[in-house]
Amino acid sequence: MAIKSAVKRIGVLTSGGDAPGMNAAIRGVVRTCECLEIECIGIKHGYAGLISGDFFSLNQSMVKGITGRGGTILFTARSKEFITPEGLHKAVDTCKHMGIEGLVVIGGDGTFRGALELSKQGISAVGIPCTIDNDIGCTTYTIGFDTACNTAIDAVDRLNDTMQSHERCSVVEVMGRRAGHLALAVGIATGATIILVPEVKYDFEKDVIERIRTARLAGRNNFAVIVAEGAEPAYDVANKIAEATGIETRLTALGHIQRGGSPHVRDRIVGTSMGYKAVSLLASGQKSRVIAMRGDKFIDIDIVEALNLTKDFDYDMYKAFSALTFLDKQALLQTF
Ligand code: F6P
Repeated sequence: MAIKSAVKRIGVLTSGGDAPGMNAAIRGVVRTCECLEIECIGIKHGYAGLISGDFFSLNQSMVKGITGRGGTILFTARSKEFITPEGLHKAVDTCKHMGIEGLVVIGGDGTFRGALELSKQGISAVGIPCTIDNDIGCTTYTIGFDTACNTAIDAVDRLNDTMQSHERCSVVEVMGRRAGHLALAVGIATGATIILVPEVKYDFEKDVIERIRTARLAGRNNFAVIVAEGAEPAYDVANKIAEATGIETRLTALGHIQRGGSPHVRDRIVGTSMGYKAVSLLASGQKSRVIAMRGDKFIDIDIVEALNLTKDFDYDMYKAFSALTFLDKQALLQTF
């Protein structure tokens, strides 16, 4: 059966911070293009590659076996030039010169803002939400979050072993930029003593020092404090705890290991699925969409609408975690 696609040639790029699952999304794009007889162009280094013309033709043999590989075979970058009118103009010219009618852009909000500008210039674009921060407002899940959580959880579990042996306090800084979703998930999953996130204001003496003292009086001999990088410098947290409690304290900043590693099942499946859906939308003539998850369902929404949405922090979960950690019945009842 002849396939009637609204586009004959599309480009795919990855932009912003990389995340495990990007390659699964790229492979989903390429294999769907093959099925729909659409030519697929790989654009290297995100929007910078769109300006410089750093392209290569992508086919299914080039994405063979990449579903389980971390990083992105297309490289990624944050392009300052692209956000200038001259840079945007160059990118549009390159697309038109190359006959690229549509783009699949894999990344975060900044990536989608670039896609919106291109769609205003007649280049159809579909965004795939991909960041370990899980902080994109239009979607309940972003590719990379689950794998990054599991990487951090594995590290914290290991740290807990040695902190238990030495009866120490471990302060662990996790990524998340200005969001605390990663810190909340890792803290709950590892039974942390305290989780500090930018979304929840706290009094250090009451909410950190006194709580560690309470835990110690209850018989706990080692402690784990998970600090989202956007909350406060973990270095300061560790020093203040050591000085106030006299407990030997060790700081571990997990950093970029949270961005690497082989994607876990959810990021492989969501990445592949979103790659397929993105190409399907372009093939059906859609111009300016973002693919999102709502629970376990995939939807697609207009880019402008997507960019106007903000991601809520799970305050109820945060309060319940804290109540369970300190067996605070009154606090727990307030979450009902
Ligand atoms: O947005 C993903 C992220 O990993 C953030 O959690 C982190 O703050 C940032 O990227 C680090 O950026 P870079 O890789 O440019 O140092």
